[in-house]
Amino acid sequence: MLTNEKVQQVLSTVAYPGFTKDIVTFGFVKNVEVNGDRVVVDLDVTSSAPEVAQQLRDEITKKLSLEGAKEVIVNIKQPKMPRETSSRGKNLAPQVKNFVMISSGKGGVGKSTTTVNLAIATAMQGKKVGILDADIYGPNIPRMLGILGVQPEVVGNKVKPIETEYGVEVMSMGVLLEEGQSLIWRGAMIMKAIEQFLRDILWSDLDVLFIDMPPGTGDAQLTLAQSVPVTAGVTVTTPQMVSLDDSRRSLDMFKKLHIPIAGIVENMSGFICPSCHTESDIFGKGTAHDVALEYGTSVLGEIPIEPAIREGGDEGKPVVFYHPESETAKRYHKAANKLWHFIEKVNEEGGASNEAIQPTTPPGVSACSTAAGSQGGGHNNGGGSCGCSH
Ligand SMILES: Nc1ncnc2c1ncn2[C@@H]1O[C@H](COP(=O)(O)OP(=O)(O)O)[C@@H](O)[C@H]1O
Ligand SMILES: [Mg+2]
Repeated sequence: MLTNEKVQQVLSTVAYPGFTKDIVTFGFVKNVEVNGDRVVVDLDVTSSAPEVAQQLRDEITKKLSLEGAKEVIVNIKQPKMPRETSSRGKNLAPQVKNFVMISSGKGGVGKSTTTVNLAIATAMQGKKVGILDADIYGPNIPRMLGILGVQPEVVGNKVKPIETEYGVEVMSMGVLLEEGQSLIWRGAMIMKAIEQFLRDILWSDLDVLFIDMPPGTGDAQLTLAQSVPVTAGVTVTTPQMVSLDDSRRSLDMFKKLHIPIAGIVENMSGFICPSCHTESDIFGKGTAHDVALEYGTSVLGEIPIEPAIREGGDEGKPVVFYHPESETAKRYHKAANKLWHFIEKVNEEGGASNEAIQPTTPPGVSACSTAAGSQGGGHNNGGGSCGCSH
């Protein structure tokens, strides 16, 4: 005899596709009704991929039938497919529904740390997530995720991203380059590499791809924004004035590239003492708020300096996954949640578009020089920087 309890128990053995956790633990099971040998299950899942719904339906039906159910109805509520309904323009990776560009005015402010922890927090909240480490000058995502030296699998002329234990798939431009090689890269080479990384990587049907950009506001950012419709831009800054000035440049760049600004992550905001857990103000904190107001956006999170963050980065054990009880992990989760709401809002309001920033190529002019030259905005296309032969 099937009972509600028994059905719940069966459902808790059904893993959410692509994850190790089950659908009950994720909180996706909204209602169960048992009427003799007829069972109705209502789910509310986070992925809009039809395969995810199909897989869940098949597995639930099969498992409940084995327990004696004659009729199984699985109603699955999914978010809208943003790609079909909203974003417009060029998209080299159409299987990815949303793109988040993580940027900073300068290096060392915690851009990669933020990318990794926001991405993992988003995955822990049930989304299909990928990370593209596009910081060719300092590709440190592999170390931070503990996959340093892992070579991706090549399938034909495409490359499979590396799967991690966090349910996040990853590709780093550093993985495919010899050490030091990227340092001599200029304009057109960077553009080509970014395009290739979007087109030739076999990303799954991702809800969101987080992209760790090189610091600054140059070729890489422009090419990326032209290649995929970026749904949300996130700027990482530290609370000091100098860094805030840099973050303004980064926010200006988002505006020029028509990228919806999700907000600022104020990193190294205060200090949490590892022994007494009190929070103190070292470099100052709360200063990003005024900059956010200036740009009509908000602060996604204030992440304090916590030694566990640095240790996690060095050891490839991200804090949000390995110390979920820590204050910083909680703040990353909150920031990831805010970011996701922003993404949903952008899609509801018509989605991201990169139509306005596509290069126009007049006859006889190379796409390369036009792409760079038409944008201005701190973009350096002075002669040799382009690197192409025209
Ligand atoms: N909130 C934080 N608390 C402690 N260490 C941090 C924090 N944020 C970043 N770090 C450490 O600072 C260094 C620089 O961070 P990283 O993310 O590599 O910066 P970026 O990518 O901007 O160059 C790394 O060693 C990282 O572990
Ligand atoms: Mg970095």
